[in-house]
Amino acid sequence: MTDTPERIQTSEGKSRLIKHFEKSSINNHNEAWTNLWETNNDDMWDRGKPSPALINLIEQRPDILSPITADGRRKKVLIPGCGKGYDVVMLALHGFNATGLEISAKGVATAERYAREEFPSPQSYNFGSSTSRPEKGSVSFIQGDFFADSGEKFDVIYDYTFLCALHPSMRARWAGRMADLLVSGGMLVCLEFPLFKDPRLTGPPWPLQGVYWDLLAEGGDGIVYPPKAGVEDQRDPRTGQFDRMLYVKPEISYESGKGSDMLSVYVRK
Ligand SMILES: C[S@@+](CC[C@H](N)C(=O)[O-])C[C@H]1O[C@@H](n2cnc3c(N)ncnc32)[C@H](O)[C@@H]1O
Repeated sequence: MTDTPERIQTSEGKSRLIKHFEKSSINNHNEAWTNLWETNNDDMWDRGKPSPALINLIEQRPDILSPITADGRRKKVLIPGCGKGYDVVMLALHGFNATGLEISAKGVATAERYAREEFPSPQSYNFGSSTSRPEKGSVSFIQGDFFADSGEKFDVIYDYTFLCALHPSMRARWAGRMADLLVSGGMLVCLEFPLFKDPRLTGPPWPLQGVYWDLLAEGGDGIVYPPKAGVEDQRDPRTGQFDRMLYVKPEISYESGKGSDMLSVYVRK
């Protein structure tokens, strides 16, 4: 018997998150996320600490990701779908001016509370093996929709479990918005997750094997499964606006993606 998505992902095998989104139309996904925050279900994705892979990149590869621009200005970083704000605080502790964006007002309030406590006396999990402590940058949070045009530009954007939170039909818009939000030469840093998940399965988290590359470098629509017949059919004017400058398996990452997460850095053309 062939393995159809229905056969490999039975109702019992579906997570609470998938079942929650199955009840909502794609146009109402913002409300569906907000509802999860309002009903205290944010434990479904919370990792409890900043990204060890991102900390290592900042501390070990300042040649790639430093907090200061060539003309001496502190870099502006955006973290869309920032959740409780762990990475926002960690980036500011490493010298960036970091902004977290959340669709949920309660999510923003939770992140602001975390930042108030964490920023003045940070726990050790914010740092890797480096003993140097740069001058701190700033922390801020905005409540809003990633897809709503703000006109603001950033030097760096970090995506972790944001693309995989979006319905596949939103992927080309995600890539176009990332390109709009970055200055020319700006960097999109992605901790790619989940790469281990069978592409036939549904989400969130939606499986992303090959998706970042297709969207950011190849100019595809990010729908890599089922495979399409003609490459030309996949071209989308909003995508393919980046060059990939780094693609590595991080030495350390969260338990949930250990051994399969990839860290990529894409540069806005
Ligand atoms: C899977 S969670 C990941 C949270 C965070 N990156 C983390 O690692 O804890 C996705 C987050 O994106 C937020 N979100 C979803 N759609 C959004 C949108 N259109 N604009 C801004 N935030 C959004 C949700 O509220 C949720 O907190």
